[in-house]
Amino acid sequence: MDDTDSEDELPPGWEERSTKDGWVYYANHDDMKTQWEHPKTGKKKRCAGDLPYGWEQETDEKGQVIYVDHINKRRTYFDPRQAFTVEDVVVKPKRYDGNTAALEILQGRDLSDRVVLITGGNSGIGFETARSLALHGAHVILACRNLTRGNKAASLIQDEWHKARVEAMMCDLASLRSVREFAEAFKAKKLPLHILVCNAAVCSQPWSLTEDGVESTFQICHLGHFLLVQCLEDLLRLSAPARVVVVSSESHRFTDLNDSCGKVDLALLSPPQKSYWSMLAYNRAKLCNILFSNELHRRLSPHGVTSNVVHPGNMMYTAIHRSWWLMTFLFTLARPFTKSMVSGHSACVGLEMELLCCYGC
Ligand SMILES: NC(=O)c1ccc[n+]([C@@H]2O[C@H](COP(=O)([O-])OP(=O)(O)OC[C@H]3O[C@@H](n4cnc5c(N)ncnc54)[C@H](OP(=O)(O)O)[C@@H]3O)[C@@H](O)[C@H]2O)c1
Repeated sequence: MDDTDSEDELPPGWEERSTKDGWVYYANHDDMKTQWEHPKTGKKKRCAGDLPYGWEQETDEKGQVIYVDHINKRRTYFDPRQAFTVEDVVVKPKRYDGNTAALEILQGRDLSDRVVLITGGNSGIGFETARSLALHGAHVILACRNLTRGNKAASLIQDEWHKARVEAMMCDLASLRSVREFAEAFKAKKLPLHILVCNAAVCSQPWSLTEDGVESTFQICHLGHFLLVQCLEDLLRLSAPARVVVVSSESHRFTDLNDSCGKVDLALLSPPQKSYWSMLAYNRAKLCNILFSNELHRRLSPHGVTSNVVHPGNMMYTAIHRSWWLMTFLFTLARPFTKSMVSGHSACVGLEMELLCCYGC
């Protein structure tokens, strides 16, 4: 039977010591052996915090660490920090995959000092992103083209948690005037801006021109966001560390922007009706998203504002397919095999979290 009455008490012949950098080890004087694990509990420990005021760590003539208490003029081989050791719990780094939900990535995070702006935050991936960030305390603004739908989305989140700070604001990316007005209204709130998620998009809609005379898919998916970031760039810089997350799509691979001579043809971006194909317009706009994000990152990252582009997953059943029955049919067929929205937006949140982790928030 053990002759000790405490779990942590060392058996006879053992002594607790610590290394220079504060790791506790155990010396067995009978066997003349040392080990990191406590001989009874098997736990590893390390010293918490600094040496007490007035103490210094020195090395004696035999190279052994010795602790000097300058105030009381004492020397000891016992590390005074050992009175306050903590267990060395091995925290395994978390692994995320395509099935991880954003709420899992955010688990335990306090985002109450973060302001997030999400375009198209009232539906699909944007809504799920807004929801999970708001449920972790972030102040989330949904930039929506339809304020009724935006307010409804905000109340859905508040119904889940009454303290969630979510609000909808009017921003129609199909109108450069609306984007400018939105940016002014947002700035008037005197809030910082830590995360801007350029998420809104349309896909497979018939050809139409916006009030600015630009093809709609291109303007909504890319040009409107391009202007929005320009309008808010100063605020992002002031709020650094800050981040732009651009939601693009893998479908950008199925196009390019070159003419028959291999040179970039800007006319392809806003084509006339006769050469318009909705999927191609979407793919080109998504390619622009990527080029834009990369260049933005190159220019702004020295100022503490990073930009990343994300592909959330393929054919997730959101409302993106609604403009064309064939798309709706394909999305319905693919539904059992594709990611849920909850997993899709985790890609966006993952990128946002990378920023928060980088800066130790
Ligand atoms: N779903 C997928 O499989 C998939 C795959 C790859 C990439 N993505 C990307 O993921 C992002 C989110 O799409 P989603 O699947 O979540 O689609 P969604 O449910 O249709 O959401 C799109 C959002 O954009 C908004 N929007 C459309 N036109 C706008 C405008 N003129 N001004 C402001 N907002 C506007 C929509 O608002 P309303 O509700 O008012 O229409 C909606 O909130 C998009 O960038 C899309 O390209 C999706």
